[in-house]
Amino acid sequence: MRIFSGIRASGDKTLGNYSGGYRQYRATQEQGEALFCIVDLHSITTAYEPEGLREATLAGTAMLFATGIDPERSIVFAQSHVPAHAEAAWLLSAATSFGELRRMTQFKDKSTEQEFVSAGLFTYPVLMAGDILLHQTDMVPIGDDQRQHLELTRDIAERFNGRYGETFTVPQGVYPEEGARIRNLQEPERLMSTSAGNPQGVVRIVDEPDVIRKKFKTAVTDSEREVRHDPGAKPGISNLVEIMSVATGGSLGAIEARYGDSGYGQFKEDVGEAVVKLFEPIQERYRELRADDNGLRRLLADGAEKARESSAPTLAAMYERMGFVRL
Ligand code: TRP
Repeated sequence: MRIFSGIRASGDKTLGNYSGGYRQYRATQEQGEALFCIVDLHSITTAYEPEGLREATLAGTAMLFATGIDPERSIVFAQSHVPAHAEAAWLLSAATSFGELRRMTQFKDKSTEQEFVSAGLFTYPVLMAGDILLHQTDMVPIGDDQRQHLELTRDIAERFNGRYGETFTVPQGVYPEEGARIRNLQEPERLMSTSAGNPQGVVRIVDEPDVIRKKFKTAVTDSEREVRHDPGAKPGISNLVEIMSVATGGSLGAIEARYGDSGYGQFKEDVGEAVVKLFEPIQERYRELRADDNGLRRLLADGAEKARESSAPTLAAMYERMGFVRL
């Protein structure tokens, strides 16, 4: 079983990313041969700062190791270190239609937010398809927002296989379960994200313990929200129950039973403490990794070499079947 996921380069990862991402990555690495790619080539599709990208790439790498990805067991690498990824994107663009890309809702949403809409933002899903297909991936642990991109990847794989001969495994997406979707503590009707919503309701994995405690203490739990009927609304309190479950491993039912009769005040405090405890060892490991950039670069170099080996046969087969002269 081959597992592949791409993670955006960023030093700003949240409790939501932990719950829906890192936790899954660590679990899936037990199920087969896993590759985790910091997708730095994707970062240039919207406005960005070059220095910020360098920093975000190292931070993103460190966070994978800090949350439990084992470099002996899994392959962690940066996309730009394995040129096959950029090459695959170009080759696959021949098997992707303009119409398909135009239908991508993420492109529609993101392009309205940009002053300069890059061609890369439009072809982003082709690069992503290449990431996945180059490694003969069976399983892709991924967020719900990426469902359409994954379906497109499957269509591209099937089209390529039909046109040029069996080349790619058609991958399966694995999506987080309902309880894994953590919401903003101040605005429980929206997902926890650094790009939108009240920052006071966003818990970062690297937040200081006291900052985390404060964010939970001031979390919204008012019962008015529970009777609101806007679609998708989710009361603050059940968000906190889910966070407690993520932090402690306890079931939702057990947590509700335990706290059913106590006030929200105590519960909020306990959830905050549980998250502080959960992040403590991660933060410690993260700081160690970030204090040693050379060590991190060595880990990346090692991952890049393994990822080159893993992708080379598929890239060679693509060129061959597409009719390029091979030397
Ligand atoms: N598009 C994904 C996201 O925004 C990141 C990504 C790039 C990815 N390539 C991938 C995820 C390959 C899974 C597999 O989260």
